[in-house]
Amino acid sequence: MSDQSPVDPTTTAAWARLTTLAAAGPPDLRRAFADDPERVDRLTFAAGELLVDLSKNLVDEPVLDALLALAREVGLEQRRDAMFAGEHINVTEDRAVLHTALRDPVGVQLEVDGQDTVADVHSVLKRVYAFAEQVRTGQWLGVTGQRIRTVVNIGIGGSDLGPVMAYEALKPYRQDGIECRFISNIDPTDAAETLAGLDPATTLFIVASKTFGTLETLTNARLCRSWLLDGLGGAPGAVAKHFVAVSTALDKVEAFGIDPANAFGFWDWVGGRYSVDSAIGTSLVIAIGPERFAEFLAGFHTIDDHFCDAPLDQNVPALMGLLNIWYVNFLGAHTHAVLPYAQSLHRFAAYLQQLTMESNGKGVRWDGSPVTTDTGEIFWGEPGTNGQHAFYQLIHQGTRLIPADFIAFANPAHPLRDGDVDVHELFLANFFAQTKALAFGKTADEVRDEGGASSGQEAIVQARVFPGNRPTTSIMAPELSPAVLGQLIALYEHITFTQGVVWGIDSFDQWGVELGKQLAQQVTPAVAGDETALAQQDASTRALIDYYRKHRDP
Ligand code: F6P
Repeated sequence: MSDQSPVDPTTTAAWARLTTLAAAGPPDLRRAFADDPERVDRLTFAAGELLVDLSKNLVDEPVLDALLALAREVGLEQRRDAMFAGEHINVTEDRAVLHTALRDPVGVQLEVDGQDTVADVHSVLKRVYAFAEQVRTGQWLGVTGQRIRTVVNIGIGGSDLGPVMAYEALKPYRQDGIECRFISNIDPTDAAETLAGLDPATTLFIVASKTFGTLETLTNARLCRSWLLDGLGGAPGAVAKHFVAVSTALDKVEAFGIDPANAFGFWDWVGGRYSVDSAIGTSLVIAIGPERFAEFLAGFHTIDDHFCDAPLDQNVPALMGLLNIWYVNFLGAHTHAVLPYAQSLHRFAAYLQQLTMESNGKGVRWDGSPVTTDTGEIFWGEPGTNGQHAFYQLIHQGTRLIPADFIAFANPAHPLRDGDVDVHELFLANFFAQTKALAFGKTADEVRDEGGASSGQEAIVQARVFPGNRPTTSIMAPELSPAVLGQLIALYEHITFTQGVVWGIDSFDQWGVELGKQLAQQVTPAVAGDETALAQQDASTRALIDYYRKHRDP
C-alpha cells in the first residue's frame, strides 16, 4: 500500500500565487507575441518525434513558474517515481500501476510483488507475436481449412477503444487480406451489423476482457459463438480454431470453453484503459505485424523515458497536465477539445474520453477525503476539418473557455493531388489557420478595415469580431507511424497522471461505473416482466419500463 497521503493543492503557496495571477487576468496572446520574439522558441518542446508548441497557451513566466512550483509542492516527481517502481499507487484496489512495464525493453529488471514483470510481459508478447504470424502467414487455418480473413475483437471500454482507435489510426500499415472489426455494444445491432457479410469459415474472434466478467463482452461472445457454430454446421473443434481470448482471468476463459492454449494473459497492474499495449492489442498485432507493434511499444517507451528524465520545466506531459490544471482550476474551463488533423485518428477523442474521464472523474482523493477543487474536465473532439464546420463556431466566438489540442502530421497516409494542388497542404493550411485565428482573433477595427460592414452597421461588425486569446497546443510529428501513435498515447497517459496527482486522486480505479452495472442486474427481471421486481422500482423507472412493455412488438 502506498502510504504517501495527498497534499491538498489548495493549501500550497503555489496555489495562492496562481489564484492571484488568475485574478489579474490571463496574459494577452497578441501582446505576449509582440513583446517577446523568443516566446515560441521558449515554449516549443520536443518529446520523441513529437514537436509540441505551447506558445499559444494563456501563460507567461510567472504562471509557468507557479505551475511548476505546484507540481513540486504536491510531489509529482515522487508519485511518478512510485508508479514506475511498482508501488501500490492504485490505493483503492491495492495494486501497482505498471502499464509502463508493458513497453519496457527486454532485459529491464522490475520485480514487483514477487513477479518479474518485464520478463512476463515479453514471454506473453512472444506468444502473441507467434500467434499473429501464424494468422498472417496462413499457417493458422479455420476449422474448414481456410485462411483467416477477418478478425473480430469483442470487448468494451479499454478492451475495445484502444484496439479500434489504434487499428483505425494504423490502417495504412495493415496487411492486405486481413481486416479487423470490433463489437463492443450490447445493443444487438452492433453484433448483427458487424457480422453481416462475414464468412464464419474465415473469421477469427478475439474475446478481450480484463476481468472476463463483463456482461456486454460475454453476451456478445456467446452471440458470436452461436453465429459461428450455426454457420459451420456445429463443426467439432470450431471454437478452438475460431476463438482466442485475452484476459487476466484465464480460469474464466477456460470455463467459457476457450482452449487455454489460445489465451493470452495480462496482469491486474494494467488498467483496462491503459491496456492497448498489452495482449489486448492482439487484433492490432495481427493487422500490422509484430515488427510494427514493437515500434508502437517503443514509441510509448520513448515518452516514458522523457516523462521520467526530462526536467519539469521541459517535461511535456507534466507541462501539458499543469496547463490543464491552470485552465480547469483557475480560468474556469470545463472541457478540453482534442482536434486531430488526421482522419485516421477519428476514434482518438473517444479513446481519450475513457483514458481521461474514467481516470480523473473522481470526487474523493486517494485517502478517501473529498477533493478540494474541481477535477476531471470533459474531453471531446473530432478530426479537423470536419469539426470546423460543426462546433468550432463556439470555440471561436462562444462564451466558454475551451483549451484545445491540435494534432497534425507533416506527411499524409495517402498523398493525393487535386490538379496542381497538394490536398494535404490544403488540409494543413486549415490546421495552421485555426490556431492562429483562435489565438489572435480579429478586432472590430480589422473588420471595418476589411470593409465587411459599413459604418452604422455596428451589429454586423460585432458579430464578425473574434475575441482571440483562445488557448491551443499544437502537436506535430513527421507522420502517423506506429511509433508516433505510441508516443501520442503515452503523452496523454502521463498528462492524465499529472492532473490526478495534483488533485490527489487515484487515477487508476473506476468505481463510478459499478452502480449502473449493479442496477442493470436488478432491473433486468422487471424489464422481462417480473411484477415484484417492477414494483420495487422508483415511479419514473416503473413508468419507463411500462412504456417499453406496452410499445414493444409482441
Ligand atoms: O466498466 C468499466 C470497465 O471496467 C473499464 O474500465 C474497462 O476497460 C471495461 O469496463 C471493460 O472491462 P473488461 O476488460 O474487464 O471486460
